[in-house]
Amino acid sequence: MSSPVIDVDYEQPTAKAGAVCDTRHAWARVPAEPSPDQRVALKERIRRLLRERNAVMVSHFYVHPDLQDLAEETGGIVSDSLEMARFGRDHAATTLVVSGVRFMGETSKILSPEKRVLMPDLDANCSLDLGCPVDEFSAFCDEHPDRTVVVYANTSAAVKARADWLVTSSCALDVVSALHAQGRKILWGPDRHLGDYIQRQTGADMVSWNGACIVHDEFKALELELLIKEHPSAKVLVHPESPADVIALAHAVGSTSAILNAAQRMDAKEFIVATDTGMLHKLRTLNPGKTFIEAPTAGNGGTCKSCAHCPWMAMNGLAELANALETGAGEIHVDPTLGLRARLPIDRMLAFTAGLKNGQAPGSLVAGIGAA
Ligand code: 13P
Ligand code: SF4
Repeated sequence: MSSPVIDVDYEQPTAKAGAVCDTRHAWARVPAEPSPDQRVALKERIRRLLRERNAVMVSHFYVHPDLQDLAEETGGIVSDSLEMARFGRDHAATTLVVSGVRFMGETSKILSPEKRVLMPDLDANCSLDLGCPVDEFSAFCDEHPDRTVVVYANTSAAVKARADWLVTSSCALDVVSALHAQGRKILWGPDRHLGDYIQRQTGADMVSWNGACIVHDEFKALELELLIKEHPSAKVLVHPESPADVIALAHAVGSTSAILNAAQRMDAKEFIVATDTGMLHKLRTLNPGKTFIEAPTAGNGGTCKSCAHCPWMAMNGLAELANALETGAGEIHVDPTLGLRARLPIDRMLAFTAGLKNGQAPGSLVAGIGAA
C-alpha cells in the first residue's frame, strides 16, 4: 500500500486544577476520582437527570467503569462504536449522552439530528481524527478518482462527508472484501495498521492515509513474545489498530465487541489483551473465572511510558456528565448540510451490517456504490 505522510500536532487541552493524570499523558485532562460519597451522589443525580431530560447513556468500552455500569443500569448501552451508532439512532430518548470521543458524539448527531447529543467533555478527541484534516484528505481523494473511498469511523464529519463508505473495525473487513470482490480499488483512511490488516486479509488494491491510534500503535511484538513465553497457554486478543507484528501473534483480532465475544467463547483460562485498558472492566466482569493480562507497550516519552489508556477517553467523568445533563454544556453540533452528506456513508454501513445479519449476499449490499 502507498501512504502520504503528514505531521500532526495534537491538541493538548489544559489540565483543570486538581486533575490527575492516570493515563500518564502529562497533558490529558483526566478528572479527579470522586470520593465514595461523591460517587454515590453523582450517580443518583445522573439517574434523576436522565429521567427528567428523557435522556439515555451511550458509553464506549474504554471509558471509566462508572460510566459503563451506569449506562447499563439506566437502560443505556456500553458497546463498540458500531453498536453505539445504531443504538443511539434507534432509541426513543430525545437526548443521547455519549461517553467516548468526539467522533462518536458526531456520528450520533448525524444519525439523529432531531436529538440533543451531549458529551461529558467536547475536547475528547482521537489521534486518527486529528491526524486526518479534511482538506489534505480531500486532495488525496482527488488524486485517486478511480478509487472507492472507505473511511474509518474515527474521523470528523467533514471527512465522512468525503467518503463513499464508512466502516468501524467490526465491519471493515466485510465491507472491503465485498468491494474487492466487485473489482473495486480502495482508498482507505486514516488508520494505516487497520488498513494494512484489511489489505493482507482481502488482497484488495488499496492506497492508505498514514494515520495511527496513539494507544494501539504502542503495543510491541518483542515484549509480547516474551509475555507469551511466560503464559504459554494464554490466548492473545488484539484490536486491529495495532501494528502488523502484534496482530501476527493474535489468536483473535477484532473490534472491542469482537474481543469481548472471543474471550467469552474461547476455552482458555488466561488472555493477553492488546487494546485500551478500559476494556478490562467488561472482560473481567463478564468472565469471572478467567484472567486478563495487559499486553506490553513501549514508547518512553519525555514524561512517561505509554500506558495503553486513551487520554481522550479518560476525559469522561461522572461530574462532567452530570454537568452536561444539568446545564446542556457539551452539546454536539454538526452543520446540517454537512451532516446530510456525512450521513450517506454511515447509513450504508448500517444497512450493510443489518443486511449481512439477515443473510443477504455481501455483493448485493455494495453494488453500485462508490467508484467503479
Ligand atoms: P471499536 O469500534 O472497536 O469500539 O473501536 C473504537 C476505537 O476507538 C478503538 O480505538
Ligand atoms: Fe482514537 Fe485510539 Fe483513543 Fe480509540 S483509543 S479514540 S483510536 S486515540
